[in-house]
Amino acid sequence: MADSETVTVDLGSRAYDIVIGEGVLARAGALMADVLGAGKAVVVTDETVAKLHLETLGRSLADAGIGFDTIVLPPGEQTKDFKHFEKLLNDLLELRIDRSSTLIALGGGVIGDIVGFAAAVALRGIDFVQVPTTLLAQVDSSVGGKTAIDMPQGKNLVGAFHQPRLVLADMGVLDTLPHREVLAGYAEIVKYGLIDDAPFFEWLEGHGAALVDGDMAARRTAVVKSCEAKARIVAEDERESGRRALLNFGHTFGHALESETGFGDVLLHGEAVALGMDIAFDLSVALGLCPATDADRVRRHLSTIGLECDLNAVGQGIVWDPQRLLSHMASDKKTVGGRKTFILVRKIGEAFVSRDVEDEQVIAVLSEAIAA
Ligand code: NAD
Ligand code: GLY
Repeated sequence: MADSETVTVDLGSRAYDIVIGEGVLARAGALMADVLGAGKAVVVTDETVAKLHLETLGRSLADAGIGFDTIVLPPGEQTKDFKHFEKLLNDLLELRIDRSSTLIALGGGVIGDIVGFAAAVALRGIDFVQVPTTLLAQVDSSVGGKTAIDMPQGKNLVGAFHQPRLVLADMGVLDTLPHREVLAGYAEIVKYGLIDDAPFFEWLEGHGAALVDGDMAARRTAVVKSCEAKARIVAEDERESGRRALLNFGHTFGHALESETGFGDVLLHGEAVALGMDIAFDLSVALGLCPATDADRVRRHLSTIGLECDLNAVGQGIVWDPQRLLSHMASDKKTVGGRKTFILVRKIGEAFVSRDVEDEQVIAVLSEAIAA
């Protein structure tokens, strides 16, 4: 097997490659040389990732003759706020970046999102490269150009579409990722199978356990398949006016659960997505759209892998309230003209967008999930 393979996001003059494989971080400088040009490079990472992987990236940049500065942010979702965003922009301007500068986002989805947004607005837009270090970032957030920060009113409410120039996904960096974070990323992988690729879901039923336990070949296959799926959808609908909305499968419920738990360690984003996908299947069954056997099969797989599908097992002492969850959904940015957007399923591998679900139907399904 070659050291790496490449998936292209086909966006015409803004097309870019995703390089996926082993040893990619150690070759990052050489791989980036063409897109970096003559300007200053600034690596932005978080404290945890800096300790583990900054040295390898730095060495590869130095070996390729690329000079760079480094900015290190605190780890965690709390960093994706306006305060840290303002400080990041200040630090970048103090470093005297110019229009030819490139930001290098080394980290998970938090770093990718805040750095991508900074790149979108600094000097009215400069280039950035994604070097995702979590499974979630490798299969989802580093690809597709959605960048954002969180606001007190909700998650990812201020941001921009700004595509990276290159994405470098090294399978080796996942070896240092805590198992819980691996599972959270796995939820986003399952999502691709559930929305439009039943054979991939079947493959995951056979290989998912090995993947989360660290099997490098299984990880790489899944990252490549996920990036191919995302690249295909983004190339068709970059700004989410249609098909891209399917990538939000499980997210309407997931975001409501995350809002309720405070977007922290109680419930990670991917864990919330897993619960949300399970509830979306239940809702589809309740609406008579999807066979109950498919919902059972999905729940069985998520549970076997170690992803929680029981709302009552989340956190300690959380009392879920269907009405409160529904009100979080109303402030979701996918809500249009007061109609909430749901991604529903006809079966495994066939998802569609619906704005026709009544609040009572959602309340009924949530109440059942809470009572279970
Ligand atoms: P994260 O960036 O917070 O990373 C999770 C934790 O893992 C952090 O503590 C981080 O320091 C640590 N970490 C990262 N890489 C590591 C490594 N290799 N070894 C050890 N520890 C490591 O979280 P995430 O799950 O990667 O991303 C979640 C964020 O992504 C959310 O803010 C979500 O909104 C966003 N997101 C964005 C998109 C998009 O399309 N832009 C899609 C999905 C999710
Ligand atoms: N993660 C959803 C999207 O990129 O559209």
